[in-house]
Amino acid sequence: MRLTAGNVGFSYPGSRERLFIGVEGTWPSGTMSALMGPSGSGKSTLLDLLGGLRQPDEGAVTCYDGDERVVAPALHRQACTWVLQSNIVLAQRTVIDNVMISALVAGETPAKARHEAHETLARFGLGGREERVVNSLSGGEQQRVTIARCLLSPAEIVLADEPTGNLDARNTSLVIDCLRIAATAGKTVIVATHDHAVMAACDRALDLSEAR
Ligand SMILES: Nc1ncnc2c1ncn2[C@@H]1O[C@H](COP(=O)(O)OP(=O)(O)OP(=O)(O)O)[C@@H](O)[C@H]1O
Ligand SMILES: [Mg+2]
Repeated sequence: MRLTAGNVGFSYPGSRERLFIGVEGTWPSGTMSALMGPSGSGKSTLLDLLGGLRQPDEGAVTCYDGDERVVAPALHRQACTWVLQSNIVLAQRTVIDNVMISALVAGETPAKARHEAHETLARFGLGGREERVVNSLSGGEQQRVTIARCLLSPAEIVLADEPTGNLDARNTSLVIDCLRIAATAGKTVIVATHDHAVMAACDRALDLSEAR
C-alpha cells in the first residue's frame, strides 16, 4: 500500500498554534522512511494522521492499494500496525505466542502459524527465545518481537514511533535490520525517530522542522 500526504496541516483542538502546515509526502510499499524533527515538532502526531487515527485540518492523507485504488478509511486503519516503545500485546505469554497470534489472525492453521513464527524469530536473532515469557526479555528483544509480529500480520503498513528510543547501538542496529526485513517483504515502513542510525538506514526522510 502507498500513503500520501497532500498539503497537510494540523492543529490540536483548542490550540491556536498550527503544529505543521503544507506537509507533502509519498510512502510507497517496500520502502522504509523516517519522520524526523525536534521533540514537539509533531512526528507522533503525523504518524497518527498517516495511520488514519486523526484527520488533518487541511489537505489529505490518502492510502492506495496495489492497484492504485483509494482505500476506504476503515480499511486504511486496519492496514496499519504499530510499533511503539512498549506495545507487547501479551506480556505474560511466550515470545512464540506473541508472534504466531498474527499469523492466526491472518487465518493460518496453528501448525503453519507456529512454523512461520519460528522462522521469523530466527531471522530476527531470537532463535532459542521462543518459549521465554516476553516480560523477561530485554527492551531490544521485546522490540524485535513486536516487529516480528507485524511482519506476520496481514497489515501492510508499519508505523513505528521511536522504536529504538531506549536501545544501545547493537540493539538499535538489530531493530533497524528487522524493520528493513519488513520493508523488503513489501510493507510500507514509516519510522518517527531522533536516532541518526535509523535515519541513515532509511530510504528517505521527511523533516518536520521545515513544516511550520
Ligand atoms: N493530544 C494532544 N492534545 C494537545 N496537544 C498535543 C496532544 N498530543 C501532542 N500535543 C502537542 O503537539 C505537539 C507535537 O507533539 P508530538 O507528540 O506529535 O511531537 P513529537 O515530534 O512526536 O515529539 P517527541 O520527539 O518528543 O516524541 C507537542 O507540542 C505536544 O505537546
Ligand atoms: Mg513522539
